[in-house]
Amino acid sequence: MSSLLTSNDAIALEEKYGAHNYHPLPVVLTKGEGVYVWDVEGKKYYDFLSAYSAVNQGHCHPKLVEALTNQAQQLTLTSRAFYNDKLGVYEEKITKLFGFDKVLPMNSGAEAVETAIKLTRKWAYEVKKIKEEEAVIVVCENNFHGRTTTIISFSNDQEARKNYGPYTEGFVRIPYNNIDALKDVLTNKNVAGFLVEPIQGEAGVYVPDSGYLSAAFELCKKNNVLFIADEVQTGIARTGRMLAVDYENIKPDVLILGKALSGGMYPVSAVLADDEIMNVIKPGQHGSTFGGNPLAAAVAMAALDIVLDEKLAENAERLGAIFRQRLNDFIQTSNICSMVRGKGLLNAILINDTEESDTAWNICLRLRDNGLLAKPTHGNIIRFAPPLVMNEEQLLDCVRIITETLKEFER
Ligand SMILES: Cc1ncc(COP(=O)(O)O)c(C=O)c1O
Repeated sequence: MSSLLTSNDAIALEEKYGAHNYHPLPVVLTKGEGVYVWDVEGKKYYDFLSAYSAVNQGHCHPKLVEALTNQAQQLTLTSRAFYNDKLGVYEEKITKLFGFDKVLPMNSGAEAVETAIKLTRKWAYEVKKIKEEEAVIVVCENNFHGRTTTIISFSNDQEARKNYGPYTEGFVRIPYNNIDALKDVLTNKNVAGFLVEPIQGEAGVYVPDSGYLSAAFELCKKNNVLFIADEVQTGIARTGRMLAVDYENIKPDVLILGKALSGGMYPVSAVLADDEIMNVIKPGQHGSTFGGNPLAAAVAMAALDIVLDEKLAENAERLGAIFRQRLNDFIQTSNICSMVRGKGLLNAILINDTEESDTAWNICLRLRDNGLLAKPTHGNIIRFAPPLVMNEEQLLDCVRIITETLKEFER
């Protein structure tokens, strides 16, 4: 590996010159290919996080690298002051693929969520005719939709929101996976939308009961409320379907995508909706310098093609079932973890210790030593989300590493 820095040097530089807004696992990566990454000392690892599900297509997929480099030599950014010859082609592709009239392109996941919130409010005032300033968006306990001031305003994670006030108003939080709570809150005629993650990823891969999302969708329909699906983490084949909502055969009114929409190559996010909703936003009323640039469009088209051509949803569903089966078998005879849950290749295990303990962190350090990278979410939960280009042999090798490492922590 041709890095000029040692791991310690690279960590020291980030520590001294970078804001301390993350607590990374101590490993310094310099190269990635498919399901593997390498550190600066040349040690090879399985990536079992995939940049929080952004690298579904695997690291440095040759078709993505080709799309990026070809377009980078042609044209990268025009701003939306002018048209470019890639955006419309991409817009047609993504809207037809997901079955919507229109797409609004942005960059990060949080920006796309912000866009969906603005779109929902505007629709509420201009189409649903809610009195101005009174629209309410319903969200769920333990949600994670990003880090902007408005988004953290409706989070209940104190770490994410403390001392960032004053907070944006207009949100009501209800328990996740509780259809009665949604029914109750929808008696408020000022509700404009219900913003929900089909699986709560950051909260620890909480999978709602089967039927919850479709029942919630029906309730929204009945009450003229927009069903807004945040599929930034669950979308693009991660859970074994192109979208996690596909399991319940529903088409959200507003669909939010990000992360793997670019295969981790470049920040690309999107909000999709039909004309009746999307057309409330007129020129000058929302935008972004980088959103919809030709480089992003070329990368996103390649990222979607790879998912379809390589049948990554099918692979995620099949390998995910094997993964949970193997870990469930292991749990029967072990006292270190009590549960594995998830869908497709978005899974998590629950470590038998308190949220405040450092057991999950220490397990991740040992996993690293044993050649697999994963990260705890919320203290005692470890998320497992490898790139979807993994094959069965690699998955079984990973199961071996994980179970052997967990055994080291049995009491
Ligand atoms: C469901 C969900 N929405 C939104 C976001 C925010 O995306 P970004 O970090 O690209 O702003 C995330 C990131 O983890 C997410 O999981």
